[in-house]
Amino acid sequence: MSIVPDEVWEPASDQRTPRGTRLAEAARDHLWMHFTRHSVFEDRGDGGLGHSVPIIVRGEGHRIWDDRGQEYIDALAGLFVTNVGHGRTEIADAMAAQARELAFFPLWSYAHPRAIELAERLAAEAPGDLNRVFFTTGGGEAVETAWKLAKQYFKLTGKPGKTKVISRQIAYHGTPHGALSLTGITPARIPFEPLVPGAFKVPNTNIYRAPEHLRDDEKAFGRWAADRIEEAILFEGADSVAAVFLEPVQNSGGCFPPPAGYFERVREICDAHDVLLVSDETICAFGRIGSMFACDDFGYVPDIITTAKGITSGYAPLGLMIASDRLFEPFRTGLNFFPHGYTWGGHPVSCAAAMANLDIFEREGLNDHVKANAPTFRTTLERLLDLQLVGDVRGAGYFYGIELVKDKATRATFDDAESERLLRGFLSKALFDAGLYCRADDRGDPVIQLAPPLTIGPAEFDEIESRLRAVLTEAQRHV
Ligand SMILES: Cc1ncc(COP(=O)(O)O)c(C=O)c1O
Repeated sequence: MSIVPDEVWEPASDQRTPRGTRLAEAARDHLWMHFTRHSVFEDRGDGGLGHSVPIIVRGEGHRIWDDRGQEYIDALAGLFVTNVGHGRTEIADAMAAQARELAFFPLWSYAHPRAIELAERLAAEAPGDLNRVFFTTGGGEAVETAWKLAKQYFKLTGKPGKTKVISRQIAYHGTPHGALSLTGITPARIPFEPLVPGAFKVPNTNIYRAPEHLRDDEKAFGRWAADRIEEAILFEGADSVAAVFLEPVQNSGGCFPPPAGYFERVREICDAHDVLLVSDETICAFGRIGSMFACDDFGYVPDIITTAKGITSGYAPLGLMIASDRLFEPFRTGLNFFPHGYTWGGHPVSCAAAMANLDIFEREGLNDHVKANAPTFRTTLERLLDLQLVGDVRGAGYFYGIELVKDKATRATFDDAESERLLRGFLSKALFDAGLYCRADDRGDPVIQLAPPLTIGPAEFDEIESRLRAVLTEAQRHV
């Protein structure tokens, strides 16, 4: 076992500092990275080296630096997380103050001030009568919590058969067994089968890949896609379906915004069949689309919101579920309780980080900033449509996907081997080498995902576009 010294980072003038090398080797030898193919970090065995593990050591605003002193634009806010940007000392100070005052107390029959204040603040921001906040440590746990609540709620209110859930193809809802059962990404599911029974998938809202007769009629496509949910409810039997889990803008697959009328129709269907509508806003809340909660951006009121990530802008882990008064009602009196919880759920230091983070949102008007600048971000990215490789640019707010295609006219996509060569063999590394941290993803068709900190504006949009343009122009030669 080797021990990496706990040293303070300072910029390195040399490209491969001994410490950089040593850290990368220690990472390669001891760190198990998430969703990561480790073979790319191994010696190739032909005298050449595999990639060394990229190590990010510092962040300031929308910029990050690696252990070799290279600077990057953080065009993915870490992982759709760092909404107020890096290096906010006031959040760090609030966390330190909280750790000094009360480092930890659980929410198991006791409460602490920061969790109470934050719950009250979130309830005031949430739409409708979504007034009850249950804290977790992340998005997957929030989704897991929502499914469990839906099941128990119906058991307590005389509909014990309502246990099943519906979600969309290629959607990602997290990795706990329940959340993974809701996840519609086949390769993420297969290694862990059997999963939780009773989770069914319906089409997503990718209009670029919609049935041909619906591609040019957004309203008709929205109606069609929403009606697939009703079809699934009726097929399974409404008495057996508890909830539908939908992201406001689906991330996985490359940013699918809801077509006009979609959520209006979904709400109607859920009401007609007494099925709960869960808005999984793990990514979309806290300004990513432009409002505190993205259901407000699209004009619907869900029964439950699940969220995480931007609530603290990543300064500490925190997730949560906000449930409507109706769902809390059976737990308000008598002996009923929700037998569910997490030691770290609503951690005082995380709640302090969230409060300081939300103060920044208010003081700097970040949501208005996103609303004002999103159209420019979109039109800047749409300039890339002149490239042969770029088939579609889609998204909302500060959240975009750029779909890469083999043939623009036919929208033909890449086969697995081509996608592997393009994304893993070239794009991921080339984007990073060009100073752009973002994500080349092929959980659906190949896309580049962008979700920068909400603080950036037109100058940075141009910088992102020009770096993307250079890399995608070069990528055309690798197709
Ligand atoms: C929509 C959605 N739900 C759930 C999750 C899982 O969140 P976590 O990784 O915090 O468990 C994610 C993560 O990206 C997500 O995007």
